[in-house]
Amino acid sequence: MGYQGHFRVWRGDASGGGLQDFTVEVNEGEVVLDVIHRLQATQTADLAVRWNCKAGKCGSCSAEINGRPRLLCMTRMSVFAEDEVVTVTPMRTFPVIRDLVTDVSYNYEKAREIPAFSPPKGVAPGDYRMSQVDVERSQEFRKCIECFLCQDTCHVIRDHEENKEAFAGPRFLMRIAELEMHPLDEADRLDAARTEHGLGLCNITKCCTEVCPEHIKITDNALIPLKERVADRRYDPVVWLGNKLFRR
Ligand code: SF4
Ligand code: F3S
Ligand code: FES
Repeated sequence: MGYQGHFRVWRGDASGGGLQDFTVEVNEGEVVLDVIHRLQATQTADLAVRWNCKAGKCGSCSAEINGRPRLLCMTRMSVFAEDEVVTVTPMRTFPVIRDLVTDVSYNYEKAREIPAFSPPKGVAPGDYRMSQVDVERSQEFRKCIECFLCQDTCHVIRDHEENKEAFAGPRFLMRIAELEMHPLDEADRLDAARTEHGLGLCNITKCCTEVCPEHIKITDNALIPLKERVADRRYDPVVWLGNKLFRR
């Protein structure tokens, strides 16, 4: 059975804006993005929202629902009471372009700062067998859909614009961890993780892990192991050299 839902949606642009209230039809089985689309169709034709797949796979529809970073297309209306006001706002950590759409180019800049996978010269496809544990680790990290909800929630840059330059954020520290732990990657990534990408600013609050729609254990499986490797290197360079030389 449908009902009249109460929505509060942030509208505006880089120069400012505010929350607007709407009453809009909600039907059984719908997600928040369905209701936003109905708002566009019936009351606010110019409401800006970014989306693509409506299946939790493209990472486009990231926003905040009742203050919590979430995918609009994967948040069922059934998790809210019928008389509850559902507040939808753009991701707070990134500059607003318009309404629910933010400029996430910070993330692309951080991605570009990480040197690509660097295998040894002369290794052809099929020359090397990866152990299962290495395969599974990479597969977990590669489930990332680049929704940037983890980046949005991390307190190091949320409300701290001044930290953005020095901090790659959980998604990209995870990328560094993935490459650093890859048995064929030869690049030296640990010093840069600490100095250029701000690994030390992460104090393992795990908020990033909590909001990840792919349930990647960002903190436990990427950030903490990366921190351990940096610590090992700093305390014992010989252990680090041994790890690099003998783990193949
Ligand atoms: Fe989104 Fe998770 Fe990837 Fe972060 S790690 S960008 S929360 S899918
Ligand atoms: Fe931020 Fe995640 Fe670390 S939320 S502080 S990157 S554990
Ligand atoms: Fe693709 Fe939501 S529209 S993840």
